[in-house]
Amino acid sequence: MGQPVRSAAYLDPEASVEARIEDLLSRMTLPEKVGQLLMLDAQHGDLADIVAAKLAGSVLHVSPDLMPQAMELARQTRLGIPLLTADDGIHGHSFWPGATIFPTQLAMACTWDPSLLHRAARAAATEIAATGIHGTFSPVLCITRDLRWGRINETFGEDPFLIGELGAAMVRGYQGEGLGDPTAVLAYAKHFAGYSETLGGRDASEADLSPRKLRSWFLPPFERAARAGCRAFMLGYQSIDGVPITANQWLINDVLKGEWGFTGTLVTDWDNVGRMVYDQRTCADYAEAAAVAVNSGNDLIMATPQFFEGAQEAVARGLVDEKQIDDAVRRVLRLKFELGLFEDPRTPDPERQARVIGSREHADLNLETARRSLVLLRNEGFLPLEGGLTSDGTGRAASRGTPRTIAVIGPNADSPEAMLGDWAGATGQVPWMPDGHPRESVETVLDGLRAVVPADWTVTHARGADIASPAHAPEWSIGPDGQPQAPVFTPAPVDQAQLREAVAAAEAADYAVVVVGDSIALTGEGRSTATLDLQGSQIALLDALAATGTPVIVVLAQSKPSALPDSALNAAALIEAFNPGMRGGRAVAELLLGLIEPSGRLPVSFAHHVGQQPVFYNQVRGQHGSRYADLTQDPLFAFGEGLTYTTVTYTDLVVHDPDVTADGTVNATVRLTNSGSRPALETVQAYVSDLTTSVTWAEQELKGFTQVEIPPGETLDVDISIPAAHCSLVTADNRRVVEPGEFALRVGPSSRREQQLSTGFRIRT
Ligand code: NOJ
Repeated sequence: MGQPVRSAAYLDPEASVEARIEDLLSRMTLPEKVGQLLMLDAQHGDLADIVAAKLAGSVLHVSPDLMPQAMELARQTRLGIPLLTADDGIHGHSFWPGATIFPTQLAMACTWDPSLLHRAARAAATEIAATGIHGTFSPVLCITRDLRWGRINETFGEDPFLIGELGAAMVRGYQGEGLGDPTAVLAYAKHFAGYSETLGGRDASEADLSPRKLRSWFLPPFERAARAGCRAFMLGYQSIDGVPITANQWLINDVLKGEWGFTGTLVTDWDNVGRMVYDQRTCADYAEAAAVAVNSGNDLIMATPQFFEGAQEAVARGLVDEKQIDDAVRRVLRLKFELGLFEDPRTPDPERQARVIGSREHADLNLETARRSLVLLRNEGFLPLEGGLTSDGTGRAASRGTPRTIAVIGPNADSPEAMLGDWAGATGQVPWMPDGHPRESVETVLDGLRAVVPADWTVTHARGADIASPAHAPEWSIGPDGQPQAPVFTPAPVDQAQLREAVAAAEAADYAVVVVGDSIALTGEGRSTATLDLQGSQIALLDALAATGTPVIVVLAQSKPSALPDSALNAAALIEAFNPGMRGGRAVAELLLGLIEPSGRLPVSFAHHVGQQPVFYNQVRGQHGSRYADLTQDPLFAFGEGLTYTTVTYTDLVVHDPDVTADGTVNATVRLTNSGSRPALETVQAYVSDLTTSVTWAEQELKGFTQVEIPPGETLDVDISIPAAHCSLVTADNRRVVEPGEFALRVGPSSRREQQLSTGFRIRT
C-alpha cells in the first residue's frame, strides 16, 4: 500500500473542503475508495480485517473497549482517513452500560411534545458523542400501519404530521449547533421509505405501495426531516413494486436528492446489498449488487463485507463506472471534513463520559419524559389512589389517613426489560452487554411504588404469571446476514401455584396493581406477532384478579398496543406505559398516587381484535358500511385519546376568517374549561376534513396541536393556526396540491368524531 502520507493538501485545515476532497481523492486507489463506502459491523472485534484489510472507512457496533483501537487503526492506514462511527442510540445510548435510556420512541410520542423530545435527543447526543460515536441511527420516521409488525415501538405512531413534528425536533436535538458542535451526533433518519407497509405485519416484506401512496402518507415525515436539516438517511429493507429499496432510483435520486435537495449521506440498511443476492435475488452476485447500489445513489454500504471485492470486480467488469464510485466517496469524505474528523477524530473522552453519561440532570429529564409518556385509558374513579396524595418533599408521598396495602403483581411488575424495551443493553443486537444495563439504573413499577408510597403503607409482590414458557429456548441462531435471530416464542402455561399466590396477595391488599404486556421475545426486527393478545398466563391472571373484588389497576408495560381481555377493559383503571424507560416505574407510581397528572395521548390506535388490522384513524373514505359483520371497525382506543384526573370541556370553536387564500392561514380559537379539581395539561388537537376531493382521501387529518396548562376551575381560549398550504392532498397524477373548496375544522381532545367540535372554512384560489 506504500508509505503513509502525512503531509498533503487534504491535511491542510486552511484549505477549502472541496479542494481537500479532490486532493485526497486523487491519491486514492480503487480499494481505498471502495473501503470508504463500507460501514462494517465491528461487534465481533475483528478490527484488523475490517479497518486494516478491508479499509472500511466507517463502522457500527464497536464495543466501548475497542473504540480507541478502531480509530487508531484507521489513523495508521496509508492515507490516515479518520473513521466514521455510528450506532443505534435509539432512545438513549442503547449499548453503553448505565447510559440514560429514555422511553421508547412510541412512548415518547405519547408526550406530543416536540420541545421535550428535542431536549431528550440533545441529552442522548451528549452521551453518545462523548464515547467516540459520531452518528445515531435515529429517529425512525416509519408510520405505524399493521400492529402485528415487531417494530411499532420504534415509531412515533400512525400520523404523518405528528411524526414529522417529533422527528424534526429529535433531529435538531441530535445535531445540536451543527456538525462542528462536539456534542452533536449525526441523525440518520430511517427507514427511507415505506418499510412499515408490511404484508400481514411481517418484517421487511414486499411493501405494496404506489408512488402516490408513498407521497400521500409515507414521505411527508422524511421531507419534514430533510428540510429540518437532517444530514443522513438510512434506507429500509423492503422492496416496492418489484424494486429493492437499495435500487429505487425514483425515491433516492428523483425525490430525495432531486425534489427535496437532500445533500446528506445515505446509508443502506443491514446487508441490503447482500440481500439483493441471496434474499430478494434480483442480482446474480456481489459485483452486480454492488454496482446496483452505487449506481442508484447509495453512499455507505452497511454490513456487507463482500462489497469490498464486489465493487472492485464491478468496476473491472464495467458494471459501474469508477466515476460513480468517486461521487459516493466524495459525499462520504465531505461528511468527514464537515465533522472536522481530520483535525479532531472525536475519540472517546473519559472525562466527558464521567460527567454526562447517566448524569443526575439526564435522569431528571428522563423522569420528566417518562411522566409525560403515560396515558390514562380508563378510570372508574379509583385514581389517583385515595383521592390523590401530596409529596412529603423528598419524593415520597406524605402519609395521610389509613395506611394501605398495595399488591404489585404481574410478569412486568419488576421487569427492567419491560421498562427499557428494545434497543437497550441485552436486547440481542450486541454481544457485550449480556446482562443489560445495571439493575440499579432501572426503576421498575415495584421499585417505584416502594420508593414513593407513604412510609406507613405496605407494598407486597407476587409475579402471578409468565409471558414466555420457562422452556423457551434462550439460544439465538445467526441468520445469513450475520444478525442474531430469535428462537420461536413459546407461551407460558398457567402455573396454578403462582396464580394462587397472586390471588392471595390481591385479596389481602386494598389495591392490586397488575403490570402486564409483552417482552423482547415478542418485539423487534424479525419478531412480528400473529396475534395482539397478551401472551402466556397473563389473561388467566387478569381474570383471576378481577374475581377477587379488590380494585385492580392494570398497567400495560408493552412495546405496542395489545388486544385486551374484558378483565383488563373492565378494571378499576387502565394505564398505558409503552416501555417507559429507566425511570418509568417511578413515573407510574407517581401517577397512581396522584403526585403527577396524566397528560399523555395515544399516537396510535388500539384494536379490539387483531382481525381489525389496520385500524389507524386516517383511513381513506369510501367503503361499504363502517363495520365488520361480526365486529365494529372502531378502534378500542383512538389516536389522540388519553384521560386526565379532571374534566376539560371544549366550547365556542370559531374560525376568525372562514374565507382564506391558498397561501393564507386558517386562524381559529376554541374555549377550554377545567371544571374539575385538578390541573390539566391538555393537548388540543386540530383535524381538517376536505369535504369534496378530486380523489378519495382521508376523512380527516391532524393538522395542528398545542398543549396548554389549565388550572382547576379556569377557562381559557386557545388559538389554532393552520397554513392553508397544509390542507393538501395528492392528486391521481401524484402531485401534492391544495384543492380550493369547503373544509371542516374539527377540534377536540382526540380523533374521535363524537369528542370534536366542528366548523367550516373555505379555501379559495
Ligand atoms: C437493522 C435495522 O433495521 C436498523 O434500524 C438498524 O439501525 C441497523 N440494523 C443497525 O443496527
